[in-house]
Amino acid sequence: MENPEASLHRVSMADPLTKLAYQTLQNGKGLLGLVHKEASTRLMNLLAPDGAPSTVPVPPRMLQDLRASMDRLHQLDWDEAERGLYPSSLLFDAPWLDWAARYPLVWLDTPRTWSRRQERNVRDLPKDVDPSAYPDYYLQNFHHQTDGYLSETSASLYDLQVEILFNGTADPMRRRVLGPLLLGLQAFGDRPPGQIRVLDVATGTGRTLRQLRGALPQAQLVGLDLSHAYLRQANRWLSQLPGELPQLVQGNAEAMPFIDAGFEAVTCVFLLHELPPEARQNVIDDCYRQLVPGGTLVLADSVQLADSPQFEVAMENFRRVFHEPYYPDYIRDDIDQRLQNAGFEAITASSHFMTRVWSARKPR
Ligand SMILES: C[S@@+](CC[C@H](N)C(=O)[O-])C[C@H]1O[C@@H](n2cnc3c(N)ncnc32)[C@H](O)[C@@H]1O
Repeated sequence: MENPEASLHRVSMADPLTKLAYQTLQNGKGLLGLVHKEASTRLMNLLAPDGAPSTVPVPPRMLQDLRASMDRLHQLDWDEAERGLYPSSLLFDAPWLDWAARYPLVWLDTPRTWSRRQERNVRDLPKDVDPSAYPDYYLQNFHHQTDGYLSETSASLYDLQVEILFNGTADPMRRRVLGPLLLGLQAFGDRPPGQIRVLDVATGTGRTLRQLRGALPQAQLVGLDLSHAYLRQANRWLSQLPGELPQLVQGNAEAMPFIDAGFEAVTCVFLLHELPPEARQNVIDDCYRQLVPGGTLVLADSVQLADSPQFEVAMENFRRVFHEPYYPDYIRDDIDQRLQNAGFEAITASSHFMTRVWSARKPR
């Protein structure tokens, strides 16, 4: 598949040193993530043993499968950049200095996470939050995260925490939406690239928008999220890109504040597993409403039991370690059926490491 905008940003990747640098970076991030989690678990067992979650032992076979699957993800990430779907600079993109400066704050915050887990306190939110402004399912400390999604502190630590959680694979997983997205946008190949409109639903701190901008340098990109604080953080990150004027809108993805059919494509990354089933369907229905006929929706979220039964223990432990109240329902949910219910056609799905990616088209 050709990215029509590829010629604008393609750089030579023939240099084997670049590939070695990418592999080394990913291996290094993976190692740092593992070391952090191991140290954190040991400290918790020592200092707050009552809060330590009981996890299922990981079979050695599953560890091998995870490792192989992660390697395939990195290979695909490299291959797609080499084919010009997105610039190789994206493979190395991260606010390294900021993360290094914030890393001690992750540790300082960790004891609060333990005590919330110990007390099963999952509704420990800032006092100034107006609960009537949010759906009830949102008012929780997802992942036992301090302030949930509702403070500047939470927003400033989120990217780094996700990077640690996924052993440095968060962006390679997010980039898996780019291939299906570019394929879907071929239907609008007769339009100037600057007239292509893409909406990123539940954009959080904007990491997915940053990947989208890499693949689509001229498209009109819009991000929507419920959290003012996360959108402000997204604004800070995205504004650093030369020429970028971030278009960020606060709202509920179940009923977005846009007129019908305003986008050629919609993406939504890592949201579905944090929603109760009815809200999940509402979000998919509202994504359908946003699309022009022939437009494409690309969803990315955790793998599920049906497509990745070999990772069942990993899914179970994720639920036990992090506060993820809707995850058990999500991993059993039939997303293809939900997409059909909304009216989508040409539904396809593929799994990459711990991420499942769905692509679907609104009929013309
Ligand atoms: C796990 S984060 C994923 C963020 C981002 N897509 C990423 O890749 O990092 C989930 C995001 O969904 C947002 N969110 C949750 N429920 C929402 C809803 N009903 N409407 C809009 N955003 C929502 C949260 O504020 C949060 O930013």
